[in-house]
Amino acid sequence: MSAPRILISRELEAGAMAQFAASAEVTLCEGLTAPALAEALQGQDALVSMLSDRLDAAFFEAVKGGTLKVIANHAVGYENIDLEAATAAGIWVCNTPDVLTEATAEMTLCLALALARRLTEGQQLARSGQWQGWAPTQLLGSSLVGATIGIVGAGRIGRAFAGLMQGFGPQVLYFNRSRKPEFEATGAEFCSLEHLLAAADLISLHLPGGQATHHLLNADRLALCKPTALLVNTGRGSCIDEAALVRALQAGQLAGAALDVYEFEPQISSVLLQLPNVVLSPHLGSATVATRRAMALTCLTNIQQALAGSRPAQALNQLS
Ligand code: DGY
Repeated sequence: MSAPRILISRELEAGAMAQFAASAEVTLCEGLTAPALAEALQGQDALVSMLSDRLDAAFFEAVKGGTLKVIANHAVGYENIDLEAATAAGIWVCNTPDVLTEATAEMTLCLALALARRLTEGQQLARSGQWQGWAPTQLLGSSLVGATIGIVGAGRIGRAFAGLMQGFGPQVLYFNRSRKPEFEATGAEFCSLEHLLAAADLISLHLPGGQATHHLLNADRLALCKPTALLVNTGRGSCIDEAALVRALQAGQLAGAALDVYEFEPQISSVLLQLPNVVLSPHLGSATVATRRAMALTCLTNIQQALAGSRPAQALNQLS
């Protein structure tokens, strides 16, 4: 059997890249628009796509009836792909759940602590050459020990973050589409989003993108937060109305925000960039060597399964 032909739309972690090269004929095509990607896929069996590739109905119309059999999205999120159109075109779509849970939960903890203890402001001062020495009132933050944390979206990552927080002795509230008995067994309390926003010291968003979660945190809901509340988002930027968040932060409706994802990614609102009470990172939730390698290899395994005629383990659609 000849080696599968796989097009990759962004360079992958080096170890994974080597494994792809050892088992497939790999073409790397970075920065293509969806129509150009469809064109480049002629003669290819599989695509490793990224969240930034918008694979819509027009894309699937263009690749339908061609050689493409499977798309492995190098992410757990897949709001960039029209699943219905993929299914109609007879193309498998897979994602990379589980392998990035711990890394993303860890990044959430990192952002929460940096925000609570004003780490980025402190670093700026330390690096500025202007630091005059220790002072009793300098950059006073808040502590997460004993805090009430509000988990919005109690999927794998949200629950893993709450698990990492256990050492802080928190009270855990959560809001989710459905109740999670296994989470409640750890002491987490289910409540309405409104109650969570009004009660939490630390609000952490772990929601997928898409219509159902778009602007879930809008101006009205942000107004429910305590003025001392801290907000962290490592899910999707579109879940927060970013302009409303900027206004809420400026008005002191909440104390600060730590964001890894943005509504108009990779653009970040210029006002947000100027605010002192925010911590910003460039979508690094899953960015560890081991996790990125595991994500890429999950893609490879799923592609191999699809090309061998099986249902890929992480398939998101069902082909008849
Ligand atoms: C995902 O996987 O959906 C993340 O946002 C990128 O790791």
